[in-house]
Amino acid sequence: MGVFAADTGHEQVVFCQDPASGLKAIIGIYSTALGPALGGTRFYPYATEAEALHDVLELSRGMAYKNALAGLDLGGGKAVIWGDPIADKSEAMLRAFGRFVQSLNGRYYTACDVGTYVQDMDVVARETRFVTGRSVEHGGAGDSSVLTAWGVFQGMRAAAEHSWGVASLRGRRVGVAGLGKVGKYLTAHLLEDGAEVVATDPSEHAISWIQANHPQVSLVAGVTELITSDIDVYAPCAMGGALNDDTVAVLRATIVAGAANNQLAHHGIEKVLVDRGILYAPDYVVNAGGVIQVADEIEGFNFERAKLRATRIFETTKQILALADVEGISPATAADRLAERRMTDVGRLRQIRV
Ligand SMILES: NC(=O)c1ccc[n+]([C@@H]2O[C@H](COP(=O)([O-])OP(=O)(O)OC[C@H]3O[C@@H](n4cnc5c(N)ncnc54)[C@H](O)[C@@H]3O)[C@@H](O)[C@H]2O)c1
Repeated sequence: MGVFAADTGHEQVVFCQDPASGLKAIIGIYSTALGPALGGTRFYPYATEAEALHDVLELSRGMAYKNALAGLDLGGGKAVIWGDPIADKSEAMLRAFGRFVQSLNGRYYTACDVGTYVQDMDVVARETRFVTGRSVEHGGAGDSSVLTAWGVFQGMRAAAEHSWGVASLRGRRVGVAGLGKVGKYLTAHLLEDGAEVVATDPSEHAISWIQANHPQVSLVAGVTELITSDIDVYAPCAMGGALNDDTVAVLRATIVAGAANNQLAHHGIEKVLVDRGILYAPDYVVNAGGVIQVADEIEGFNFERAKLRATRIFETTKQILALADVEGISPATAADRLAERRMTDVGRLRQIRV
């Protein structure tokens, strides 16, 4: 398999199996230094168990960094269910998963991710109280893309201030790749701020929605056309790996700030961005609004409180960009350092016996 959890720094990795319902799941807990580990459940048809393990280890580590910089008292974890979400998902399987989550007694809180939806979390919640991202009807926070988009907008404003001295996108041309749940809310914030939006999405449904609701948005055929056009900001809001050797070489934007997870295709690409003079607002910093929204549910969801927390992404992004300048490092490295510092400094306090 090539990887053992002991080598990756994870606290705990749990394999869960219920043959009758077909459940095969892995829960990865990277760190509980700041509190219970929070991260969604990805339901995905991995080719192999090794691939599922690799994904949960990467994703749970990422959540620890994201939650730390979002200022949450939560550690980082994630779960994967190995299967086809359309063909294999059932009430029994989700409830079996819920019982495994419950068995961790609060070390891990689950939520939605790719292939799981608020309605699924309502089912999981019948077996465990350590679940967030439930539907509004069940007292949950609902669709997390609302505050994800708000947070991305705040991070973009901070990057605009850093580059141009004004915390606004007014008069700027922003290229949005992906007009899904987050991309469409982000587009609305940008238009309201006075930006010009150019966008692309392969989905006909997404395109007709945007044409009906925001006819002023210009549309282009694909990502290559988008990133080689005259844009000031590039907002990747579709899949991971948007910033690779090919795209960064031709990208014309001054700023990259978007919702997609894992935008940097490989280690080292963050330095290429710096060399090309492109300011990258780290993905996990600016897209933390969604986890802030679902984390708020743990206290009893209050939208205004959650929105206020997501608004602070503006300050956090500014802090990271300033640290990167002072230390002569990339914003991605600066974000990692700040997250590690918080995990160490605040996590250490538990050693003080109370
Ligand atoms: N929803 C959230 O709260 C949240 C939180 C954090 C991060 N994210 C990340 O943000 C990204 C978008 O999430 P979402 O919830 O809007 O997903 P979504 O599935 O609703 O939307 C994704 C959109 O991207 C489009 N797309 C696919 N391939 C594309 C391509 N090559 N070029 C342009 N568009 C393409 C799809 O057609 C779809 O409309 C994902 O990477 C997700 O992991 C989402």
